[in-house]
Amino acid sequence: MAAALPIAYLNGEFGAINGLRIPVLDRGFLFGDAVYEVVPVYHGAPFRNHQHYQRLSRSLQQIQMTAVMDYAAWEALVKQLIERNGGGTMAIYAQISRGADNGRNHIINNDLAPTVFAMATPMTNRSQEALSRGLRVVTREDTRWGRCDIKSTSLLANILLYSEANALDAQECLLHRNGILTEGSTSSVFVVRDGKVYAPPYSCGILPGTTRDLVAELCEANNTPVNLAQITVEDLGLADEIWLASSTRELLPVTRLDQAPVGDGHPGPLWRVIDSAFQRYKAEQISG
Ligand code: PDD
Repeated sequence: MAAALPIAYLNGEFGAINGLRIPVLDRGFLFGDAVYEVVPVYHGAPFRNHQHYQRLSRSLQQIQMTAVMDYAAWEALVKQLIERNGGGTMAIYAQISRGADNGRNHIINNDLAPTVFAMATPMTNRSQEALSRGLRVVTREDTRWGRCDIKSTSLLANILLYSEANALDAQECLLHRNGILTEGSTSSVFVVRDGKVYAPPYSCGILPGTTRDLVAELCEANNTPVNLAQITVEDLGLADEIWLASSTRELLPVTRLDQAPVGDGHPGPLWRVIDSAFQRYKAEQISG
């Protein structure tokens, strides 16, 4: 994990990240009472920024917070952070907590001033090795809470699951509830079988993925639309291809599932087609 870039933002001020401070009674710190976003940035240009803003607004609304800033203010914050960190390719992390209270109160107090924090980090997840050899993943029971559609900073289950996968030399943990696939601990998931693409339907158990939505558009344009279906752990084992999608990984192929090869054990042909379409779309967005 690469270190954060030097300049960050907290409640209206930009400054050196190591110098920024929040009060100990901040509800984000005490309860994880906060939501977040991660926006990829290519050559200084934020990618699908409006979709990230919309999801952030939805997350806030779902935790009974009102919008903290309009889209123009959000765009300006992201732009400033990119510029102050020298532009280029990076990820912007932004989190909004309900703010600091006067004690540890389980009841929501809507009069608090939200804490808005944002930082920039290098984007390093798409290595040459991942592209040429694919990723190794393990499967685990989904031990997260029941509102995974909210992009909450309460990621204790995710980090335990991801770390467990990491200790087994895997780059993601695919999660299932009672044998039905939900998503990765940090990513959305697609399965390909007999030329058809499948993904789990959205529900309270899955984050609506901005990358997943784009990949679905690209699949549609390629005449291989995504079929929404319940995918079992057994189905995963029979897949020709498995893909992971996220803002920082884009679209990556999985070639090992619990140590067994996925398909022929190499990045699949449909992944190549859709990933190429992704790269073309990205190039158009950056130049436009
Ligand atoms: N994670 N599902 C989960 C649980 C995630 O954490 C993420 C992203 C996704 C994909 O969403 P998107 O395509 O909008 O990035 C799905 C981010 C990158 C993170 O937590 O760092």
